[in-house]
Amino acid sequence: MKKIIAANWKMNKDRAQARATAEELAAGLSAGRASGRSVMVFPPFLAIAEVSKVLGGCADTVVGAQNFYPAESGAYTGEISLAMLADAGANWVLVGHSERRHVLHESDSLLAQKTQYALSRQFGVVFCIGETLEEREAGKLTDVLTRQISQGLSGVLDLSKSLLQEKLIIAYEPVWAIGTGKVAGEKEVLEAHALVKDVLAKQACDLSSLPVLYGGSVKPANAQALLALANVDGLLVGGASLEAKSFLNIINA
Ligand code: PGA
Repeated sequence: MKKIIAANWKMNKDRAQARATAEELAAGLSAGRASGRSVMVFPPFLAIAEVSKVLGGCADTVVGAQNFYPAESGAYTGEISLAMLADAGANWVLVGHSERRHVLHESDSLLAQKTQYALSRQFGVVFCIGETLEEREAGKLTDVLTRQISQGLSGVLDLSKSLLQEKLIIAYEPVWAIGTGKVAGEKEVLEAHALVKDVLAKQACDLSSLPVLYGGSVKPANAQALLALANVDGLLVGGASLEAKSFLNIINA
């Protein structure tokens, strides 16, 4: 399976900046250096159309959105629908990112609803999980990851397994490693990814073949070592994806 390298630009870049980064990225990707990788880019909403125009021609590259609301249309002030995202060129979404869980207080049940909603409407989902430092230190790693996976995926287990395999990716991102410069050590990544695979295997339909990405302070300097670890099927990159050069170095690691 090709390793998946995903860029989460978070709340950064206006349209011109996003287009410039996407153009540099497209030039780097079409130089052929990225063969063997699948690339995903999650720009802020207002830049999705620009970015998907630029990256649309790149092989193995998709554009997604960082959020959406699970309803068709209507009285949801400030929210955005999947149809609007599809119209702008996005066909993947992030669900359960730690900033949505901890800053915006999205609950396991809302995340389950969003995951089910997107997958049953042919959108792909990168479903993010991860423990806080407090939870890790209290010995709750297994409990937290088990709860986040079991509850988050509770609504999708009756969808076809082939759909889930094509459209569902898990991203393990320890909250204490996101944006802190503290990448999880080899031992921690191996342990958490094995645990995630184990929990996935125990779901009503065995989901252990879903790709599991690592995220949290991924940089060009540590990407290769992380990608070499067992059960690491790719990387979700925040800060180091904002510059095209740095992101291309991670793609080509
Ligand atoms: P970071 O963010 O690479 O800046 O740590 C990762 C993420 O939040 O997905």
